[in-house]
Amino acid sequence: MGVFVYTRQESGVEIGYWVPPEYWTQGIAGAMIDAGLEMIPRLFTTDTLIAHVDPANAASGRVLIRRGLHLAGRENGLDRYDWQESPFAGCS
Ligand SMILES: CC(C)(COP(=O)(O)OP(=O)(O)OC[C@H]1O[C@@H](n2cnc3c(N)ncnc32)[C@H](O)[C@@H]1OP(=O)(O)O)[C@@H](O)C(=O)NCCC(=O)NCCS
Repeated sequence: MGVFVYTRQESGVEIGYWVPPEYWTQGIAGAMIDAGLEMIPRLFTTDTLIAHVDPANAASGRVLIRRGLHLAGRENGLDRYDWQESPFAGCS
């Protein structure tokens, strides 16, 4: 139904995702990213996730913004989005 990948980088863990066009706008990318935001910080003991998005790819930017990533700049023609886990995550 979709592909989700993650790669360790110097400044955090980079995520990437792909959903076949016939399944777009059903929340699949969002669900994969939600799972990644939950799992990756624990797997990699990092609190920083990164995504690079073509500025023309409005759906991809939206799915990230909705999950708390923010536009951090532009690198090699791509928008860079960052996410940082709250220092209070896991506290009750
Ligand atoms: C970008 C992509 C991953 C989105 O997958 P998806 O499963 O359709 O995403 P979701 O359904 O979880 O969420 C899509 C969001 O974008 C919105 N959206 C869809 N098309 C849009 C458009 N043309 N403009 C603005 N927003 C759009 C949807 O309304 C939804 O937002 P919402 O949750 O606020 O309603 C998918 O289109 C894809 O695989 N594209 C090709 C590969 C790609 O671009 N990968 C990402 C590289 S960074």
